[in-house]
Amino acid sequence: MALLNVRTIPDPVLRQVAKPVANVDARVRKLMDDMVETMYAEHGIGLAATQVGILERIIVVDLTDERDGSEAIRMVNPEIIWTDTAETYKFNEGCFSVAADVSDRSSRFFAIVERPKRVKVRYLDHNGKQQEIEAEDLYSSALQHEIDHLNGILFIDHLSKLKRDMILKKLDKARREQSGRVL
Ligand code: NI
Repeated sequence: MALLNVRTIPDPVLRQVAKPVANVDARVRKLMDDMVETMYAEHGIGLAATQVGILERIIVVDLTDERDGSEAIRMVNPEIIWTDTAETYKFNEGCFSVAADVSDRSSRFFAIVERPKRVKVRYLDHNGKQQEIEAEDLYSSALQHEIDHLNGILFIDHLSKLKRDMILKKLDKARREQSGRVL
């Protein structure tokens, strides 16, 4: 397995719409393994292929404590086929890609995002077999966050313009300070 290079804003790749995967083959499985490893290395609970600069509809999520790959969910061409319109769930979201420096956890920004409490997702598993799951609460938010990435959407897009601009301004400042570090 290999660690992948995670892109951060304002990398334009994060705003592209990813293409469906035609075949779940060895290449796709290897990519998913590498994404899982990268997600663990950076202490995240989800990662979309878009974030590593690959515009294919692939996401990985792991909300368990094992963190050894055995419980990681790998989804190809995930699609939300049902959304709970009655209840919402709020979570303090962060994102590898909304950080001044990917490997510096203190440079990440978080904000409460309110999303539908439940979703049903249809996807292809690592064998190319079609599956459907219903997710709620954090799992639901994580899937929506990652599927958003495949459509060029970031969690900050769900915030008010005021909050979004504040995060972008802080990010910009953090980035400029980094580039000016003395040795
Ligand atoms: Ni993200």
